[in-house]
Amino acid sequence: MKVAIIGASGAVGQEFLRVLDEQQFPIDELLLFGSSRSAGRKYMFKGEEFEVRELKHNDDFKGVDIAFTSAGAGTSREFADTITKYGALMIDNSSAFRMDEDVPLVVPEVNGDDAFNTPRNIIANPNCTTIQMVVALKPINDISKIRRVHVATYQAASGAGAAAMDELVAQYADIAQGKEPVVEKFAYQLAYNVIPHIDVFQENGYTKEEMKMFNETRKIMHEPELSVSAMCVRVPVMRAHSEAVWVETERPISPEEAREAFSKANGVVVVDNPSEKQYPMPLFVAGKDPVYVGRIRKDLANENGLSFWVVGDQIKKGAALNAVQIAQYILSHNK
Ligand SMILES: NC(=O)c1ccc[n+]([C@@H]2O[C@H](COP(=O)([O-])OP(=O)(O)OC[C@H]3O[C@@H](n4cnc5c(N)ncnc54)[C@H](OP(=O)(O)O)[C@@H]3O)[C@@H](O)[C@H]2O)c1
Repeated sequence: MKVAIIGASGAVGQEFLRVLDEQQFPIDELLLFGSSRSAGRKYMFKGEEFEVRELKHNDDFKGVDIAFTSAGAGTSREFADTITKYGALMIDNSSAFRMDEDVPLVVPEVNGDDAFNTPRNIIANPNCTTIQMVVALKPINDISKIRRVHVATYQAASGAGAAAMDELVAQYADIAQGKEPVVEKFAYQLAYNVIPHIDVFQENGYTKEEMKMFNETRKIMHEPELSVSAMCVRVPVMRAHSEAVWVETERPISPEEAREAFSKANGVVVVDNPSEKQYPMPLFVAGKDPVYVGRIRKDLANENGLSFWVVGDQIKKGAALNAVQIAQYILSHNK
């Protein structure tokens, strides 16, 4: 298997190197790509050194089987033809193709079989906040159709990339030394703050991130009528997103029934013992594969409502791991 990682120097690209190793993904040859900024940089994989090449419109992708792209939507759009023209399957982490009808949007626990319909040799990896939410919604939807979802997110700094993590660390250090913190990656200082603004605002008052949760959830779950109203908030957490979720189902579901469905679901771990102060938190979920669910309870404002708390490592399950799992799904189901 000849595998390429595009955006190797980034937060997600670096995670790809770790996940491919952890998952023992069958790789005979590995190629790393980036812009001219990171070209020439070297990274270790399984004890070997690999040098980043500059991504160009050339024949570098001849013979590549799978290309994991995480270099932003503009790069994905510009280089999709170059990457796929010799048959490589592009599994793309950006938002470039997610809503295109001829590109499947896949979370293996929910709609793995969609990965076999790839007329353009492209599969899109959903937005990170959507991935962890749909993994948790699926077992509930299986027992009673979900009519409505309300969600408030608490999103880590790393969701905005490697430089954003550095900025948060630097802000705390600068403030501790009495210096004015540098603000570049977020609209405001994130240290000691929360920012109710992720991605750009749309005409309807929602942000693009919030509309991704609305549109992508429908596509992944094959539920075109499902309503999702999201409020996406950046918090000064380094890694792993948290989500408070309220769902309305066709029939009332008890917390016990939901807990049982979550515990049997693929990719979900239930941590829900409030009397022992046990619930998922980003500090402890960072670096882990599954999506963690806790605080499962009745929604007191809705007879058919259920409320729960979902935490997932958005660089891992929300990006690199989900993409690798898509590739594994295709290899293991081999249709
Ligand atoms: N961070 C997350 O939690 C997360 C989750 C899901 C999806 N994503 C998506 O994954 C993508 C990468 O995000 P990230 O967080 O890893 O960002 P990042 O840390 O800022 O990394 C961006 C990567 O893209 C590369 N790149 C930029 N322009 C390029 C070009 N013209 N040609 C080749 N490579 C180029 C960069 O290489 P240089 O170093 O050479 O500039 C770098 O490796 C984005 O589309 C993002 O929306 C991120």
